[in-house]
Amino acid sequence: MKALLVPKGQAESLRKQLLKAGYMDIRRKVKVRGDDLEIPVTDTIPPEFSPFPCIQQEEPEYYENAGFLHDQMQKYLEEDGLDLLPGGWQILGDVVIVTLHPDLYPVRSELGDALLTMHPYCRSVYLDEGIEGELRQPNRELIAAQDGVDNPALAIHTENVCRFKLDVTKVMFSKGNLNERIRMGKLGRGEVVVDMFAGIGYFTIHMAVHARPARIIAIELNPESYRFLVENIKLNHVEDIVEPVQGDCAKKTPVSVADRVVMGYGGNTHHYLPQAIRALKPGGVLHYHEIVPEKLMPDRSFERIHSKAREQGRKAEILNWHRVKKYSPGVWHVVFDAMIDGDN
Ligand SMILES: C[S@@+](CC[C@H](N)C(=O)[O-])C[C@H]1O[C@@H](n2cnc3c(N)ncnc32)[C@H](O)[C@@H]1O
Repeated sequence: MKALLVPKGQAESLRKQLLKAGYMDIRRKVKVRGDDLEIPVTDTIPPEFSPFPCIQQEEPEYYENAGFLHDQMQKYLEEDGLDLLPGGWQILGDVVIVTLHPDLYPVRSELGDALLTMHPYCRSVYLDEGIEGELRQPNRELIAAQDGVDNPALAIHTENVCRFKLDVTKVMFSKGNLNERIRMGKLGRGEVVVDMFAGIGYFTIHMAVHARPARIIAIELNPESYRFLVENIKLNHVEDIVEPVQGDCAKKTPVSVADRVVMGYGGNTHHYLPQAIRALKPGGVLHYHEIVPEKLMPDRSFERIHSKAREQGRKAEILNWHRVKKYSPGVWHVVFDAMIDGDN
């Protein structure tokens, strides 16, 4: 586990910078080592972020771990209930998101309080009951909040120096897509990019902040997500790059303008392939996401991309594909990179 070794006098300002940039590992405690402090950092921290030596912590100390939850919940649950306790949860900004076995619902507020004790810098805890519908909207219930907290659902989540403002009861934020977001942040320099399913700017913000394309046209249908997309463009100071477009990408996707098209969607993405291909200039690259049963991987998606390109008299070349995350048993979220050649 990585940590920066920092003289005590300089630790507080660096800790604030690390928190702001999203490189602070907030699960682990800052440790004293002689005249220095070991400040825990995430694996994504770039070497050039700080001049201080980056070490591997021998004995990392964690804030209360799941064991603490078990101890805390003993007064409310029998042994079989304790066995159902969650082993992990998501922290978005300063909001905890937890999924619970239905048998634990009767003690959800006590469990929420225990999680707040474990994460004292967090403001609220939400019970996650899944993501629904075409607009991928979460179903979440507030189960605990610090006293006097207003707007417990509002979070500003920072990762890889990108800041995302969101309402956790209105829009999703998939932690499983982190690596894919960071990968997209390395693509698109100087290009015209169309993000057809932009959401609150999951890929768009990473690309705009790190790769600096010439222009990103970010299309989003859901008014709630669109509102946060506009806020996140300002929050990350990328107004000069990102043009937010509210509406259906089936109608709003421009023609023959893009060097790169991102289709970061888990619904019937293949229905939107014609618009995506038509948006690409010759030699442009498509990032096509799909939820695929393992037995149909990768051929069904290859065939969908090739046939839609052929229908437009164009040629698709699959550059690479990889699994982004497991979606459900035997089903994967996969992304396919394809170059589309030939004129529109
Ligand atoms: C699943 S989210 C994006 C997830 C994102 N790729 C990530 O990394 O977490 C898909 C977004 O597409 C939006 N969407 C769905 N159908 C759309 C359409 N026809 N046009 C534009 N946006 C659409 C949804 O509202 C949602 O915000």
